[in-house]
Parts: sequence; C-alpha cells; structure tokens
Amino acid sequence: MSKRIGILTSGGDCPGLNAIIRAVVKCASQKGWEVYGIPYGTDGFLRLEDGKCHSQDFELKANCYELPGLLHGIDILQFLSGSILGSLSKGDPGDRAIAQTIIKGYQDLKLDALIAVGGDGSIDIIYDLAQQGQWNIVAIPKTIDNDVPFTERSVGFDTALDKVTSALYDLTFTAASHDRTMIVEVMGRDAGHLALASGIAGGADVILIPELISKIDEDLITDLCIRIAKLRQSGRKFSLIVIAEGVKNQTGERQKAISDYLAQQIDRVSHQLCLTDKPEFCDLDKIETRSLILGHIQRSGTPSSYDRLLAATFAKKAVDLIADEKYNQLVVWQNGTVQIESLDEVVSYIKQRHQLGICPSPVDPNGLLVQTARSLGIYLGV
Ligand code: F6P
Repeated sequence: MSKRIGILTSGGDCPGLNAIIRAVVKCASQKGWEVYGIPYGTDGFLRLEDGKCHSQDFELKANCYELPGLLHGIDILQFLSGSILGSLSKGDPGDRAIAQTIIKGYQDLKLDALIAVGGDGSIDIIYDLAQQGQWNIVAIPKTIDNDVPFTERSVGFDTALDKVTSALYDLTFTAASHDRTMIVEVMGRDAGHLALASGIAGGADVILIPELISKIDEDLITDLCIRIAKLRQSGRKFSLIVIAEGVKNQTGERQKAISDYLAQQIDRVSHQLCLTDKPEFCDLDKIETRSLILGHIQRSGTPSSYDRLLAATFAKKAVDLIADEKYNQLVVWQNGTVQIESLDEVVSYIKQRHQLGICPSPVDPNGLLVQTARSLGIYLGV
C-alpha cells in the first residue's frame, strides 16, 4: 500500500544525517511512497502552519539532490555532512499551544508515519509529541556522543572518532618537537565514549572521562604530574592528554574549556612539585602545556564508511517497519546487526536517567575499552 512519510533530523548535527535521508528516500521510492522532509526538526511543522511553507516545498524526490551539468547523476548526498533539512538543537516546544500546532502540522501533511532522527533528548521530546498527536513514529539514533541507550552505535560517532584520532596523530608531532604536554578537549556532553575510544586509537598517555573521575582534584593533578615526570624520565619527553568535555573541575562543576583549566592546574602543581627535592620531580619544571578544544570540527567531514553503512541499514529497517505498520520503535545496533527497541521503554529509561542527572548510556567503567586502556598503560585517573 502506498504511503506518505515524513523525515526530520533533530538535535546537534553529525556526519551521516544526509546518508540517512538519502537511504530513506531511496528505500521509500522503491516502494512508490512519497517522502516529505520536515525542515529544522519539529519546527518545520510550525512553518507549515503559519503559511511560510507548503507541503509541496517539503517533498523529497529520489533524484532531487543530484548535481547539475556533467556531474549530473552523481548521487552526492551520502558524502555530505550536516543535514539538508537543517536541525534543531533545542527541540522542546515548551509551550502547550506550540506543541499543539506542531502536532497539527503532522496531521495537515497527512503523513502515515514519521521517521525521527535524533539523540536521546530529541527522541524523548518527539516521542511525547507523537504520543499526544497519535503519530506513527520510528526513530533512528544519531550522535557523536554515542550515548543513546539500547544501541551500541549511533550514526555519527564513527566519523567523529576518526576525526579526533587523526587530530591526535597530527598533534603528536608538534608536541614531540617541543617536548610539550598537549591537552585535547573532546566533545561528548556527559559521556566519555569519544574521548576514550579516540584516546586509545590516537596513542594518548592520559584519558580523562567523567565516568571514571568525579572531578579534577588535587590528588589527581599530583598523580598526573608524577606520571608525566616518569614518562619524561623514561625518554618520552612529550605527552598527549585527552579530556572529555564532561569532566568536572575541582569544585565538581562542569565548566567551559576544561582543557584550559587542566593546563593551569598542571602548571601550578608541577611547579610546586619541582620545588620539592625528590629526584622524580627534578624534571617537572620543564613541563610546558598547550590546550586545545577540538570543538565542532568533530561534527564535520564526510561520513566514514561505517557511518554510511549504519545510516543505510537503519534507514532500510525504519522503512520496513513502516511498511509493516510496526510503529513506536527505535532502530538500534546490537550484536552486529540491526534490531528494534520499543520507544515506550527507551523513552521512560531516558527520562529516568535525565531526572537523576545521569547520562543515559555512559562508558562502562569495567568495560572492554577501559580495561584495554589500562592494559596499555594509559593513565585514567583511577
Ligand atoms: O550532542 C552533540 C554535541 O556535539 C555534544 O558533544 C556537545 O556538547 C554539544 O552537542 C554541543 O552543542 P552545540 O552545538 O549546541 O554547542
């Protein structure tokens, strides 16, 4: 039976969103369905309602993003980062009247179903709207933070991992040339997946993530300085520290530029330590730190093959679910294949975790990557 479906991207952008959109359009077109791309997340429904846009403006044809001229026919969408639909960082409509207008937009577009591509926050918000409006919804997880529960991987994480790993590789040479300690701040919100995985892959000496250290206290900084001193004495004059943005300062609070904060703390404590006459600290005065925040570059770049495959397999599954009229599902990656989880359960779990102020899917402190980092001699702060 022919269907009319919508797709939107919500939350922070990441590589692979366009690959999802393209794959959804391709799979749906094969079935003869119509696909409507809602711009700027659920905000697009508001534009429809206030007359700024019309339903035909939203229609996505299978070939509508092809290039002109001799390059016509090149299907470029899956290679581009960002989202051709735009995205919405703060998706909570807050106001009840606005929520009602959004809900009406879905009905006025006469959609049979909506594919919502988002992280934990967006999935939570959109599922509430879907419940109120009786939308038929299927969700696809995306985020460079990899913190959507029930899925081992979200679209975007792998590309960001490559980006950070490659930055660490590049920074190694300048750090080595100047005998410096380079402190690299990595995104991830409250989760340390990106910092941990990139730190291992990029050859970091120290990885600090919020799941393992509650804050940067005096003991930790002292321990860290001693580690660096020992490294230097062993012949490695430079070091690489990866710190997740979610790591908290000495008073246990999140702060902007935690990497700069750590650099200042290392400078201060290493100076104090080198005033003591213990032989292991005699070299410490020479620690020179430089900190940098990788920032939004981590969300850019052509998606990795892995993310494109994830995008394609997730999109296929989402379209199949709609064909079977099996709604209210999150498409997930588990044990090497695509699976589904009920959005009812996923969202109530996300809500519980958010209420407690806990990341919905943190790094397992006893997991394989933490154990691997330890075995490689990487300092994790504990
Ligand atoms: O959730 C993705 C993410 O990139 C986080 O890693 C980061 O903390 C946040 O979004 C940044 O958000 P914004 O783009 O709104 O500054």
